Amino acid sequence: MPMTEMLQIALGLTIPFFLMAHFVHTRVAASAYDVNDRMGYIAGLIWNSTSGWNQAILLLVVWVHACIGLHMWLRVLPAWRRAQPVMVSLATLIPAFALAGFLVQGRIQYARLFSPDEGPGLVARYNMPSLPEFQTLIELTTQGIAIFTALLGLTLAIFLGRKYLGTRKSLRIRYVDGPEIQGRRGMTLLEMSRVTGVPHMALCGGRGRCTTCRVVIEDGADNVPQPSPQETASLRAVNAPPNARLACQLRPTEPITVLRVFRTDGRRARAHESLGKERRLAILFLDMRGFTARTTGQLPYDVVFLLNRFFDAIVPSITGAGGTIDKYLGDGLLAVFELGDERASALAALDAAAGIGSALHIFNQTLIAEKARPVAIGMGLHLGDLVLGEIGAADNAPRTIIGDTVNATSRLEAKTKELGVEALISRALLEAAGKDITSLDLVELQLRGVAHPISALAVEKAATLPALLSGDAGTTQGADNRPASASGA
Ligand code: FES
Repeated sequence: MPMTEMLQIALGLTIPFFLMAHFVHTRVAASAYDVNDRMGYIAGLIWNSTSGWNQAILLLVVWVHACIGLHMWLRVLPAWRRAQPVMVSLATLIPAFALAGFLVQGRIQYARLFSPDEGPGLVARYNMPSLPEFQTLIELTTQGIAIFTALLGLTLAIFLGRKYLGTRKSLRIRYVDGPEIQGRRGMTLLEMSRVTGVPHMALCGGRGRCTTCRVVIEDGADNVPQPSPQETASLRAVNAPPNARLACQLRPTEPITVLRVFRTDGRRARAHESLGKERRLAILFLDMRGFTARTTGQLPYDVVFLLNRFFDAIVPSITGAGGTIDKYLGDGLLAVFELGDERASALAALDAAAGIGSALHIFNQTLIAEKARPVAIGMGLHLGDLVLGEIGAADNAPRTIIGDTVNATSRLEAKTKELGVEALISRALLEAAGKDITSLDLVELQLRGVAHPISALAVEKAATLPALLSGDAGTTQGADNRPASASGA
């Protein structure tokens, strides 16, 4: 537990000890003896006594307790950080003025209360208790403090008892980057971290008002209690993965392995997944042909405008098929189809390629209507082993894909230009999609930087792909699906 939180709790527990006398001599005295407990009465009564000091300390304790609470609650807000110099001044000046007021008024009231002239009138006006009544009030104060002390002791005894019993009902919690601890059932994961001295970020102090304590459960996610709707909403708001949880809300019941998403210095920790995971997936490289020649001499804003219109037109075909854009590469892009299995991935890539072909046709119609030159594209589609990982500094590492498959797909895309086709689709992808390739005339390509030749289907117009793969090639691209230039490749 951070020092400030410990101080806040300690101050909070001190308040009832100091407040008891004030409560009894005002609220209780007013109810029991009809005392007129106005400020002047209290100030005069406690001036120059231990009670006066106690009330001055109480004021400071409550004030510091409130300031810490307010700061812990609002410190994440930029406006609060900007206002801090003013707030610190107010936090100092307000209690200083309050104590100065008590200093002046207490002295005056005390003098009036015990002066022979004014005193009797004030005693009658405030209806001050008699000596036996005062004695009763003092006894009530002592009893109140004794009851509170007993309750506090009982709470401590229960806490220590549970702690003792808990050691017999402990469970293993392993942190990905160390250490491994024995937690006690019934505690939250954040409490387990704190009790065992494991540094754990918790900006709101474990009140469920931030998400900085969140962890990713890397092992045992199926055995933890379900999150509350509020926790689910908080995690959804920060796009947390499905196995993420708030440590201050999670009470593990079985052993788990977790990764703290944030380090205590506020930087992001690397998730295990960021180290890379291997998948066999389909990917698609796309490039706009003749982009440099087309945009030479154009104003940069016009180039940006054209590119965005182009991507707006074709990207929905990729995302609609279940793919995601791994990265934009100037006038091109790399898309990955991260679906459940190889077949689904390959089919999605084929769907996307066909969709792009159709979308491009419509986009070009618009360009022609605007008296602009239509756009030509080249696509390479391939399926193979990839590594998906986060590359970059820990707090700024976008996820990306790497591997020989990426290189080979890029070469396929480059080859489309030479062959004069819109797409080259590798045999590996077609087979993974379950397509009958016996009737297709694949070309064997030796690609630069790729160890083995790749056989691929050259597709002149991507929009004709569905018909081509269903064997209805005669009506779309001709009996021989290869362009003339590809036949001798
Ligand atoms: S510490 Fe803020 S939500 Fe857990």
